[in-house]
Amino acid sequence: MINNDLFLKALKGETVERPPVWMMRQAGRYLPEFIAIREKYDFFTRCKTPELASEITVQPIRRFGMDAAILFSDILVIPQAMNIEVQMKPNFGPYLPNPIHSQKEVDNVIVPDVKQELDYVYQAIKATKELLNNEIPLIGFAGSPWTILCYCVEGQGSKTFNKAKEFCFTNPVAAHQLLQKITDTTIAYLKEKVLAGCNAVQIFDSWGGMLSPTDYQEFSWQYINQIIEALKDLTPVIAFGKGCWFALHEMSKSNASALGIDWTCTARNARYLTGGNITLQGNFDPSRLLSPPSEIKKMVRQMIDEFGKDKYIVNLGHGILPNIPLENAKAFVDAVKEYEPVY
Ligand code: CP3
Repeated sequence: MINNDLFLKALKGETVERPPVWMMRQAGRYLPEFIAIREKYDFFTRCKTPELASEITVQPIRRFGMDAAILFSDILVIPQAMNIEVQMKPNFGPYLPNPIHSQKEVDNVIVPDVKQELDYVYQAIKATKELLNNEIPLIGFAGSPWTILCYCVEGQGSKTFNKAKEFCFTNPVAAHQLLQKITDTTIAYLKEKVLAGCNAVQIFDSWGGMLSPTDYQEFSWQYINQIIEALKDLTPVIAFGKGCWFALHEMSKSNASALGIDWTCTARNARYLTGGNITLQGNFDPSRLLSPPSEIKKMVRQMIDEFGKDKYIVNLGHGILPNIPLENAKAFVDAVKEYEPVY
């Protein structure tokens, strides 16, 4: 049993005294203790060394006491395990030197034995569970197949992911084969993460909002839904699509336990589009954490009142930015813990 089960209760839609809170990308670059580790070890060494990954995972918890931890790792460990080289370049981001542009290159992509190739992730989960000592749940995650394809084809980050879209629209057969390979790998990977100790999983569709509503269904949502269907009896699944408010209605008909909302969609609209029944997570504008702490607290209280305290998980609308002052991150978490519902 987990001592603080607010997060798991919210995922089940149960009544809570206050909503749970965590922050996307909470294990990372705004924390001085994270920077200290980053100065000594490169990115994938941090991911692949269970003592480092588990330590980084609990750093924000020690400081701010969120209601859930998220494993320090990256969505790009999946293409790496699929035989696609991935580098993380300092001050640049992900770099894939051999991007995929043809059927032949898709044929060379493997669906790996995730137990073997990603064993370091499960070891990191076990080490983290020890550190967490059953205090709070641990979230595992993966990128959506579409978001992973974006990096595999583009070879790096992009504002538009036009090359990824071009590949899908000019070579849909190969694109769908690649998406299916990523989906199969991700399902096996997330199942192992749950077996290793994760209490819930989140799928990050960071670039879903690049697609039109019709293309979203074809190139992203159908694959996310396969993952949800494969995991739903094992663990709660949270689906977060950045910029995907247009798909919320369709998403709400799935077996996801919760849907992530970004800051461009109002609570009212998100509740309306999802029929008012499914748990929602979000959606504080990450840049608004630059406001003074007193203002942050006021806005967080207002956000909870708008979403409602039940069937709701307080979070940002996307990852925390590296330039957020510590006291501002603290104000965000504290505001939720101090929240008192108006009956
Ligand atoms: O706290 C947590 O959320 C856990 C850790 C986590 C990381 N990446 C660590 C990381 C998570 C959940 C991710 C997911 C991820 N990675 C996403 C989806 C979420 C989102 O932000 O949309 C994406 C698109 C990636 C790919 C990625 N990894 C990029 C674009 C970058 C470089 C830009 C950046 O955000 O710094 C990374 C590197 C990365 N992953 C860092 C961290 C802490 C920073 C680099 C470093 O530590 O050296």
